[in-house]
Amino acid sequence: MSGYDALPAISTSFIAISAILVAIGWRLIVQKKREAHRKVMLAGAAAALIFFLIYLSRTVFIGNTEWGGPDSLKTVYLIFLLFHIVLAAVAAVFGITTLTLAFREKFARHRRWGRVTAVIWFITAVTGITVYVLLYLLYPGGHTKGLFGAIF
Ligand code: HEM
Repeated sequence: MSGYDALPAISTSFIAISAILVAIGWRLIVQKKREAHRKVMLAGAAAALIFFLIYLSRTVFIGNTEWGGPDSLKTVYLIFLLFHIVLAAVAAVFGITTLTLAFREKFARHRRWGRVTAVIWFITAVTGITVYVLLYLLYPGGHTKGLFGAIF
C-alpha cells in the first residue's frame, strides 16, 4: 500500500478519534469537569479539522474514488454517501456554532447546541466509517478520478 492509498484509512481514523473524543468530552461535562471538557472537545474539533484537511487535499490533488461494487447497489450507495456528506456539512456548521457559544460563555445555549452537535457528529462518524468499509474493504477496486486529472 502506498502513502496515497493509506490516506482514506488515515482520514477515516481521524473521524473515529474525533467522535470518541466528543463522547468522552460529553461524559466529562456531565461529571461537571469543565476544564477537562474544554480540552477534550477542542482536541475532538482538531481531529475533525485534520480529517477535513486530509479529505480536501486528497479530493483536490488525487481525486475521489468511484463505486467499485455491484451496479445494483450503486444508487443505494450514492444516496447513503449524499446523506453522510450532508450530515458532515451540518455537523461542521453546528460544531462552529457550539464552539463560538462556548468561547462567548453563552453556556445555556452552548449546552443545547452541544447536545445536537454531538449526536449529529456521532451519526456522521458511523456513516463515514461505513462509506470507508464499503468503498475500500468490502468492494475495493473503484477508480480514483482526479479533479485536476479530469480538467487537464
Ligand atoms: C465542539 C465542541 C464542543 C461540544 C460538542 C460540546 C458539547 C457540550 C454538551 C453536549 C454539553 C451539555 C452536556 C449535558 O448537559 O448533557 C456541554 C456543556 C458545556 N460545555 Fe461544551 N462542548 C464543546 C466545547 C466546549 C468548549 C470549548 C468549552 C469551554 C470553553 C465548553 C464548555 C462547556 C460548559 C461550561 C458546559 C456546561 C454548561 C452548563 O451546564 O450550563 N464546551 N458542552
